[in-house]
Amino acid sequence: MTAVHERSGVDLERAVDVLRSGGLIGLPTETVYGLAARADDPNAVAKVFDVKGRPRGHPLIVHFSSLETARTASSHWTNVAEALGSRFWPGPLTLVVRRAAWVIDEVTGGLDTVAIRVPAHPVAREVIDRLGVGVVAPSANPFGMVSPTRAEHVLKDLGDGVDYVLDGGPCDIGVESTIVDCSTEVPQILRPGVVTEAEVVATVGSIAPTSGPSRAPGMLASHYAPRCSVRTVETDDEAQQFRDRGILVVDARSDPASFVRDLYSTLRRCDDEDRDEIVVVLPDDDGIGRAVRDRIMKAAAPRH
Ligand code: TXA
Ligand code: MG
Repeated sequence: MTAVHERSGVDLERAVDVLRSGGLIGLPTETVYGLAARADDPNAVAKVFDVKGRPRGHPLIVHFSSLETARTASSHWTNVAEALGSRFWPGPLTLVVRRAAWVIDEVTGGLDTVAIRVPAHPVAREVIDRLGVGVVAPSANPFGMVSPTRAEHVLKDLGDGVDYVLDGGPCDIGVESTIVDCSTEVPQILRPGVVTEAEVVATVGSIAPTSGPSRAPGMLASHYAPRCSVRTVETDDEAQQFRDRGILVVDARSDPASFVRDLYSTLRRCDDEDRDEIVVVLPDDDGIGRAVRDRIMKAAAPRH
């Protein structure tokens, strides 16, 4: 088999051709790998839901190569969106805004808002730029499972479901973008990530509290789940009894940012090693620690 037929590689033009003709690619971003399709093609978008096994109503993020192109997806571009976009894009932040007329129902699940992001990974931006339209890109994992942070994870998880996987190396950040809803009067963080609440507040002044039911459809209690069971503890004392029994204990407290970079790989390794259980010592619910806690609690939650 020649290199041309290999399912993973660094051939940007091939990736763009696949997207142009309505196919799906594994797209490297700085957060996690996405399963990308052109956002203006209902059939291509439908394939994304099918391949992931994702319920149709869970809306997707549209990825653009610049702030200028991203704002074309919005009918009311607010000062808050402008402030956040100029401060954090390209980067690990998604904004929910009122959608423009061209954004199709298949992407938003029929909502009058759309989630948009400009990823920082140069490969992602180059592909989108050459394609000339935004791409939807949910994390490239089967619904409810652990997100991929390497090209080989995508091939392993999705197999023939993806036409080509662009290999952009391991993801720098390792956890999905922070989502901020800017479609209402007062913005609200819908999903924590490495752009922290303090950074968002410093940029926009004030935000709505995050307690109460989530405004993001598809934010389920169980998510990001490996096969092995995940247990959480708050202190090293609690962790010791598990160490004594030979169970793998990982500690997220000293450096949450570097912990989160390897989090999904660590969960995948537990499955590869056929472990029954992993114990995580949780960081404080603050800064990047909040994103770590969110993903670990969901990985640890009872499965559906
Ligand atoms: O870092 C990321 O955001 C990655 C990379 C690939 O860019 N993508 C990602 O996509 O995490 P996904 O589909 O796994 O998560 C998208 C989340 C969904 O849980 C959904 O609830 C929320 O975005 N979302 C999308 N559109 C929305 C909308 N109009 N209103 C509220 N939430 C929305
Ligand atoms: Mg996901």
